[in-house]
Amino acid sequence: MPRSSEMCYIQDLLKPCKNLISPPSKSCFMISPNFMKGILAICIFSALFLVCFSAYNFHGLISRTSCPECTRTFRLQVSSRETINQQSTNISHILFGIGGSAETWSKRRGYCELWWRPKTHRGFVWLDQEPGEGAEPPWPKTSPPYRVSADTSRFKYTCWYGSRSAVRIARIVKESFELGLKNVRWFVMGDDDTVFFTENLVKVLSKYDHNQMYYIGGNSESVEQDLTHSYTMGYGGGGFAISYPLAAELVRILDGCIDRYADFYGSDQKIGACMSEIGVPLTKELGFHQIDIQGSPYGLLSAHPLAPLVSLHHLDYVQPLFPGRSRIDSVKRLVKAYKSDPARALQHSFYHDLSRNWSVSVSWGYTVQLYPFLVTGKDLSTPLQTFLTWRSWSQEPFTFNTRVMSLDPCERPVIFYFDGVKDAGKGKTWTWYKRNPYMRRRRCEREDYAAAYLVKGFNVSAAVLDPQLWNKAPRRQCCEVMNGSDDVDGVLKIRIRSCNHWESVTPP
Ligand SMILES: *[C@@H]1O[C@H](CO)[C@@H](O)[C@H](O)[C@H]1NC(C)=O
Ligand SMILES: *[C@@H]1O[C@H](CO)[C@@H](O)[C@H](O)[C@H]1NC(C)=O
Ligand SMILES: *[C@@H]1O[C@H](CO)[C@@H](O)[C@H](O)[C@H]1NC(C)=O
Repeated sequence: MPRSSEMCYIQDLLKPCKNLISPPSKSCFMISPNFMKGILAICIFSALFLVCFSAYNFHGLISRTSCPECTRTFRLQVSSRETINQQSTNISHILFGIGGSAETWSKRRGYCELWWRPKTHRGFVWLDQEPGEGAEPPWPKTSPPYRVSADTSRFKYTCWYGSRSAVRIARIVKESFELGLKNVRWFVMGDDDTVFFTENLVKVLSKYDHNQMYYIGGNSESVEQDLTHSYTMGYGGGGFAISYPLAAELVRILDGCIDRYADFYGSDQKIGACMSEIGVPLTKELGFHQIDIQGSPYGLLSAHPLAPLVSLHHLDYVQPLFPGRSRIDSVKRLVKAYKSDPARALQHSFYHDLSRNWSVSVSWGYTVQLYPFLVTGKDLSTPLQTFLTWRSWSQEPFTFNTRVMSLDPCERPVIFYFDGVKDAGKGKTWTWYKRNPYMRRRRCEREDYAAAYLVKGFNVSAAVLDPQLWNKAPRRQCCEVMNGSDDVDGVLKIRIRSCNHWESVTPP
């Protein structure tokens, strides 16, 4: 019977206790009862003292007994602090540290001011000296407030091809930390020419527990850069994020790292080396873009990986994102699409139109490509190589696969660029894309291309992408041409939606 055996078991357990309670046999040892009472009194007293003392320290037990009201407030304080800590990360929890210089800020601020919101963002541009006294107007209100970095002349810097400013910029995270600002969960470092897409940045960081030690960012696109600098660091131009507890560890040893890795070129590389000492690896997020490429980033951005767009960098070194527009106007244009649906910016989807044997690839908010033949899903999802490597201007290698952008107009896609966005109500948007006017010069004379050239634009409908999607298993969304919209005024209507069961971009 289970019951009796259970009882036996309990009694067995009790047996040794009973033995302990019974008076010790005289044969073992003899202690006078008074002495025992004395020991007991000391024990009880010290036990009480310990309980009270620790309770006072950790739980305010003394105030609990003397003042019930205080206890309640105390409990409320603890629980509200806990809930605040558990609330999801928002923009107020990020402290930005931007590496700048007094001399170049007026030239670089354009990119920073595209994303910086003075009322909601926290952070500083760290300068090498006070900004231009006298001649310059006061510090622009649209820029992040500035701080002047501490003197770094005592540190070693021995990289012959680099600049000493790397030491100063590496220390921004330390100087930011030491400001002791409240409720900082993440320190986000960036260059003065980094464009952050902050809604997506917040979304990406909120996936991670800020109470743990995280180092989040991305590598360089050019393998030569990753070989020279490192694969294990977050590149500073694309920006990287350090959680508060990790920053606390980093700050303790950073100055030593700067001297120890004096021959390292960049500030980001010195931080990366320090992280190796702590033992925290880089968590790679595919939306951070260092843009270490030469030429046009078009191919890369029109086949963006399935991850939210977090940052762009080096936009002064590559061709403008949109042909015929200035660099800064181009970014403004992209930001316009981004604002209406942050999570969807640059998200890729494509379909085969089997009634015409066309392939259509949409990079939301940026571009549509039309091929008047069937291109495999593998090829469509691979970036066209419209760029060269960063330092040696070579054809390869990159940290991702590319496909050749043919010079033959009969192998190239017909390209359309984002032109406008409209709120369609019910949480939907329309974005439209126009033919690239600069591509008319070199045409393919084939018949299938003639039909494709008749298309003047695309008008794309999409539901605003729920950022919660990034917490789920990733899958590219699907799209299709909308019924009855065939070639109305040469504009094709497309709908982007989540894919159905058993749906794939597979030729018959
Ligand atoms: C951000 O979260 C904190 C709680 O941690 C909250 O007090 C604050 O109002 C939030 N701010 C915004 C802009 O949502
Ligand atoms: C599409 O391509 C296939 C295979 O090349 C061909 O059999 C079919 O006739 C084409 N369809 C149209 C509508 O051109
Ligand atoms: C795209 O389609 C929507 C809905 O029909 C329309 O309101 C919008 O004006 C169209 N945009 C263009 C540029 O055709």
